[in-house]
Amino acid sequence: MELQINGIKRITQAAPETRLLFVLRDELDLTGTKYGCGEGQCGACTVLVDGKATRSCQTPISSIAGQNITTIEGLEKNGRLHPVQEAYLKVDVFQCGYCASGMVLSTVALLKNNPQPSEEQIIDFMNGNVCRCGTYPRIIKAIQEAAA
Ligand code: FES
Repeated sequence: MELQINGIKRITQAAPETRLLFVLRDELDLTGTKYGCGEGQCGACTVLVDGKATRSCQTPISSIAGQNITTIEGLEKNGRLHPVQEAYLKVDVFQCGYCASGMVLSTVALLKNNPQPSEEQIIDFMNGNVCRCGTYPRIIKAIQEAAA
């Protein structure tokens, strides 16, 4: 099966029901996408599918044929980090960093549809992304920074 990942066609031999997370990490070596709960609850595995924040641990590859998948490795362009990545670094959000790629990609999806979200809208949208270090105030600040 053919997948479109970060603008590149990738071929996988995985069975159609295989979850995208495992194809990314185990087959394509795109390990920026993290395995957290494996049950759709934590957001660590978030990628973009046609720009929409998507739990890759819950996504069979058969359901995303022909769609554009963006992982954290695909955000950088021409050696420059994405503005959302820059904002997270500027605010010095992360401690352990395990939630980072999912948080950043969810933020990209949020700002694409709502470039100037209120704090309430940020909290509402990011509610499904868990940070075990509890850096939520800095995450909100970074999103506001990226939106500015
Ligand atoms: Fe997918 Fe937790 S690993 S939501």
